[in-house]
Amino acid sequence: MTQPNPKSHLIRLAAVIVGGIVIFLIIKAVVTPASWNYKDWYRSDSLALNASYETAYGGNDSCATCHQEVNEELAEFKHKSLSCESCHGALADHVKDGEKIADAKVDDQSTWQCLNCHAARVNKPVNFPQFDKKKIEEHREMEDGMICTACHTPHDPVP
Ligand code: HEC
Ligand code: HEC
Ligand code: HEC
Ligand code: HEC
Repeated sequence: MTQPNPKSHLIRLAAVIVGGIVIFLIIKAVVTPASWNYKDWYRSDSLALNASYETAYGGNDSCATCHQEVNEELAEFKHKSLSCESCHGALADHVKDGEKIADAKVDDQSTWQCLNCHAARVNKPVNFPQFDKKKIEEHREMEDGMICTACHTPHDPVP
């Protein structure tokens, strides 16, 4: 009777490890993008891809070309620090190549749009005007279903 080789289990174990490493290297070579930047650890083609997307948001200056008066008006009021697009949606949905292509979003029946910013949250600065449920009910004895814009103008919110 031949004795089993006392080292054969070690050889098999080594074969499994080597096999595993080879399979890992093959999969890695297949799935790693060609432009992978090993130094900074990102796909360098993604820069060009991101730059090729059309800009959706233009910032307040982009509105001023056509709505100069509104920009000037807003700048005088408590809402001066706001982005127009936070209420009216992205520039790209409203203007393309310098022409109006669709109506901007206008929510003049809103409660939630105001509370989006003015609802009470623990992470907001204490002096930021914010409402919890109780304070909304107390606020000017607001009746159920009453909208904020019944008393407040969005651009010039202080009544
Ligand atoms: C807090 C939300 C909010 C912000 C911020 C805001 N708007 Fe408005 N805007 C409204 C609402 C709501 C209306 C609808 C009319 C109304 O109720 O006064 C409106 C109306 C308008 C109108 C049409 C009526 C008009 O006054 O000519 C234009 C144009 C406009 N906004 C542009 C802008 C621009 C430009 C900015 C930034 C400089 C801006 N808005 C910032 C909420 C906002
Ligand atoms: C190329 C010009 C142009 C630019 C830039 C532009 N708008 Fe307008 N916008 C218009 C025209 C034209 C109207 C319709 C006539 C009017 O109310 O003055 C309009 C109307 C609006 C209205 C009223 C609702 C509607 O669509 O009729 C709002 C609100 C508005 N724009 C917001 C904005 C905001 C916010 C920006 C910047 C992100 C912006 N617009 C940038 C041309 C422009
Ligand atoms: C994108 C965020 C945002 C939205 C949306 C928004 N607000 Fe404001 N609001 C602010 C900021 C920021 C201030 C300035 C707070 C300050 O001066 O400390 C402010 C100030 C105010 C003030 C003046 C508070 C004071 O100190 O006297 C009133 C009133 C007000 N908002 C009401 C509204 C109403 C009503 C709406 C809905 C039409 C609304 N806001 C929508 C962010 C927002
Ligand atoms: C019935 C009219 C009315 C309604 C509806 C109303 N408000 Fe007011 N709000 C006022 C008046 C008047 C003031 C100024 C005096 C005061 O503080 O009571 C005020 C003050 C504010 C202030 C600044 C002072 C503060 O209490 O921190 C904010 C922010 C505000 N309102 C947001 C809102 C929001 C958001 C809504 C909708 C959920 C709303 N308001 C609905 C009348 C109203």
